[in-house]
Amino acid sequence: MRQAMLIGILGCVAAGALAGAAIAQDARPTPHTAANTAHPLRWPKVRSPLRRDPKVEAAITRLMARMSLEQKVGQVVQGDIASITPDDVRRYHLGSVFNGGNSDPHGQYNAPAKDWLALADAFWAASTSDDPRLPRIPAIWGIDAVHGHSNIVGATLFPHNVGLGAMRDPALMRRIGAITAIEMRVTGIDWTFAPTIAVVRDDRWGRTYEGFGESPEIAASYAGPLVEGLQGRIGARDWLKGPHVIATAKHFLGDGGTKNGKDQGDAQVSEAQLRDLFAPPYEAAIKAGVQSIMASFSSWNGRKMTGNDSLLTGVIKQRWGFDGFIVGDWNAHGQVEGCTTTDCPQAIDAGLDIYMAPDSWKGIWESTLREVKSGAIPMARLDDAVRRVLRVKFRAGIFDTVKPSARPYGGHYELLGSPDHRAVARQAVRESLVLLKNAGSLLPLKPGANILVAGDGADNIAKQAGGWTLSWQGTGTTPADFPHATSIWHGIADEVKAAGGNATLSVDGQFTAKPDAAIVVFGENPYAEFQGDKSDVAFDDPSTVDNLATMRRLKAAGVPVVAVFLSGRPLWVNPWLNASDAFVAAWLPGSEGEGVADMLFGKAEFRGKLPYSWPKRPDQTPLNVGDAGYDPLFAYGFGLTTHDKGDLARLPENRGTGGGDRNVLFVRGKPTNGRHLLLGVDGALAANPGPELIAAHPADRSAQEDSVRIVWTGHGVATAALAGDPVDLTREANGDVAVVVDLKVDGAPTAPVMLGGQDVTAQLKALATSKQWDELAVPLRCFHDVDLAKVSQPLAIRTAGQLDLTISGVHLGSPPEGVADCR
Ligand code: BGC
Ligand code: BGC
Repeated sequence: MRQAMLIGILGCVAAGALAGAAIAQDARPTPHTAANTAHPLRWPKVRSPLRRDPKVEAAITRLMARMSLEQKVGQVVQGDIASITPDDVRRYHLGSVFNGGNSDPHGQYNAPAKDWLALADAFWAASTSDDPRLPRIPAIWGIDAVHGHSNIVGATLFPHNVGLGAMRDPALMRRIGAITAIEMRVTGIDWTFAPTIAVVRDDRWGRTYEGFGESPEIAASYAGPLVEGLQGRIGARDWLKGPHVIATAKHFLGDGGTKNGKDQGDAQVSEAQLRDLFAPPYEAAIKAGVQSIMASFSSWNGRKMTGNDSLLTGVIKQRWGFDGFIVGDWNAHGQVEGCTTTDCPQAIDAGLDIYMAPDSWKGIWESTLREVKSGAIPMARLDDAVRRVLRVKFRAGIFDTVKPSARPYGGHYELLGSPDHRAVARQAVRESLVLLKNAGSLLPLKPGANILVAGDGADNIAKQAGGWTLSWQGTGTTPADFPHATSIWHGIADEVKAAGGNATLSVDGQFTAKPDAAIVVFGENPYAEFQGDKSDVAFDDPSTVDNLATMRRLKAAGVPVVAVFLSGRPLWVNPWLNASDAFVAAWLPGSEGEGVADMLFGKAEFRGKLPYSWPKRPDQTPLNVGDAGYDPLFAYGFGLTTHDKGDLARLPENRGTGGGDRNVLFVRGKPTNGRHLLLGVDGALAANPGPELIAAHPADRSAQEDSVRIVWTGHGVATAALAGDPVDLTREANGDVAVVVDLKVDGAPTAPVMLGGQDVTAQLKALATSKQWDELAVPLRCFHDVDLAKVSQPLAIRTAGQLDLTISGVHLGSPPEGVADCR
């Protein structure tokens, strides 16, 4: 009975209406117009030393004559290891597998390297043992080794591309590529979905840190050396073999140019802008012999890239003469006008050669087979796609190889995060740090001094590593998952100790003996892809310790303050700049915290230069060098050296009423983005309905009134909701995003409690027993009775019984490990 009363708690439109709305929005065919059709002859030609080998082409022709149609279709489909077994690969003759950011051997995010290698062997063995009457075509495995082999425990973690862009050092990029390739080979993986050579024009984009800069020059100067580091040099005997792997230039084209910086959005630019701003890095990558290009999720003037033949075929293949293969992005073909994830002849027609079909591989395999048989997909197009895949496999020596573990470097685990590799990463960290302020030449600090280290980022490797680290979002890890890494705190402690000084870690900056200087490390928490999209470029500190208050307190006590800011992009940080004497943009430096310490204590001189313009105001975006009226706080290319005078006048601190991080729903005691905490009876929720059924009071977790305590009296059904303007959360629901509540339960529920249509009573009871702060998460895809395209109450907790809980934060993010499926 009671259960029945509790359903439908989120005040939204009925489910039937919503399904229609969501589909209409996504699948509305957009006309192919002059504005989204490229003219390849207006694009430059690309000259590469790479030649087609007639012997290889003849071998492909002979091979293809013996292949079954099923086998051909298999070459153009890849499944994700979370949804495919070696036996599936054998039965469907798949040409490749891959793993998304959250997919790991036996689903263990921190699976040891040997399990990756064993799985690589298993897929290879399955692909080479299908029908003995058919030719043997080994499968390859693709992975996002985007800042080192970053899915693997113990691998070297290089700074993310934003930091590498600040180095302006193409030669070091070559070494970074080479090391990444070797570490991949240790685990038997042949192909990386890197480099990202996006030119990023709006820093609200959650993938800004995957790009090298806002103007094409840095990516264009890096693409060649990086591709050569990964793949080797065209013409060399070990090209794509031995210590090398297959590289992917992604995401073609204009992924960083979407309107409002929206991930998977629409680049509304002219053909000339598309070509001149976004294409130069691709031209460089093709010259260097890149063998794969990933089509972007995003659109150009309303038309999905994955279905745009004028660009995929016209520009890449015909104008540029690219003869490798074009791979799709994660089910991106399903977003092409008129397609579903399991049926999309439009994409292969447009020039896609491999469908990235994580969980949809079987459906797309079946529909493709059917459509080739019916003639809906021309046989010639399938043959061309297969030839491209096989060409890359021949070039990479895949037909001559033995199982991955028996190849050079296979199983040489000592190479993962080896001292030599980490030394290169440490060098990259040193070169990537950008000094923005250095009042009174505070830096470099004297290591022999008494140094206080504070901030939630000080001893936090996950935070300094960012997204795409062991997990997709870079969250849910523990320090033990980073055996070779050094936190910034440990890097500082080592250098200070070696010089006879004294370093103390105190996250909230409290001290007993007054230090000579304090270093406060803080910044963005990890995120990836659309989860990192923002509605403005202000920094809203996600930390539970108030780092700004710490800095102000230290300064007031006469302690010089060095701010070390960890972030995937420039952000408006005026209050933090004012509160510090020196300010270092450290980006997402990765595993080598010593590299940061090196710079603070003068082991090397600052030389990093901003790859993105730094905003003066929270709403100052897009902001790019060359704009009319360009007026940044720090210009593109800015960066103090150790010898510059680095004083900075006091800056205005008004945050304004801008949007803030759209994923943060409640922080520091307050709802965000114009939402309100409403209480009472559904349909008549109010800010303060009177204490009869439910009441809320400010409460303290780590600071005064940073939380809210909500008490249900049990005198009738009552709801507590964060309510505001409806937002579209369909994208988040698709990507496994959850509503995550940081809470403590002081009074256990006496009746069922519902959140997002899910019964959370058991979890709340468990929390009432532990009395600990913890996270409660409900995946958005479980919000069955809610129109995900129009969610006005992303959090609504309802019960008829008694309940007493305190909430310190609510955000949209990855569910912690072990969150059960929808009920
Ligand atoms: C990302 C790609 C990535 C792929 C596989 C997609 O969501 O956009 O960059 O290579 O997933 O993980
Ligand atoms: C990412 C994957 C991730 C998935 C979650 C994709 O966009 O690329 O790596 O596991 O979303 O649904």
